[in-house]
Amino acid sequence: MPVHLVEHPLVQDTLLVLRSVETSTDVFRRMATRISVLLAAEALRDLPTAPASVQSPIAVAHGRRVNADVVVVPVLRAGLGMLDAVLELIPAARVGHIGLQRDEMTAVASQYYAKFPANLDRSFVLMIDPMLATGGSAVAALEVLERAGARDVRIVCIVAAPEGIAVVERRFPDVRIYTPVIDEGLNDRKYIVPGLGDFGDRLYGTL
Ligand code: PRP
Ligand code: URA
Repeated sequence: MPVHLVEHPLVQDTLLVLRSVETSTDVFRRMATRISVLLAAEALRDLPTAPASVQSPIAVAHGRRVNADVVVVPVLRAGLGMLDAVLELIPAARVGHIGLQRDEMTAVASQYYAKFPANLDRSFVLMIDPMLATGGSAVAALEVLERAGARDVRIVCIVAAPEGIAVVERRFPDVRIYTPVIDEGLNDRKYIVPGLGDFGDRLYGTL
């Protein structure tokens, strides 16, 4: 099952604040960070670990440390609103960037930028983009990552539409999608309903 619904109460509570038209830009930014921390933790639940020990003030404590190369790839520009949250969890993660812009009339995504760290084929790649609407941007980004050598890719989004999930599933059946919700669908302008509006515009105050 490629879609993982993240039903944690804090995720659901934060999602509703993001959806509200009353939410101001500063609160929207904070809530985007909060929900992204929770979603990324879920998406990285199966990260490999290795045994490790530390000396506590009382005795030696045995435990485990993350033992994986993680590459986070925000899809510009809205994905940048999730990046700090992921780096808070994995400060050593490397970061790639993909710039995509949906045409306002046709909703077709075109690429304007891509830059990745080396050895993507050996990395856990976490692609972050808050909105999965038609799926055009996600598929375009996944194709860029595929050409760059990425093998293990998972997507974290904040709102997904059934149309977008179906498109990604068809082209990339092995890519796992982590989302708090699958909304009703798209309107005639290809915005998610009920969605939360234009994520990038709300994040950066460019409405
Ligand atoms: C938004 C969003 C996704 C895309 C989703 O970006 O961040 O990348 O739309 O839509 P799709 O599934 O129909 O392709 P947008 O192109 O608006 O650019 P922005 O991040 O610069 O605001
Ligand atoms: N991009 C957004 O920011 N919101 C949508 O609803 C669809 C695409």
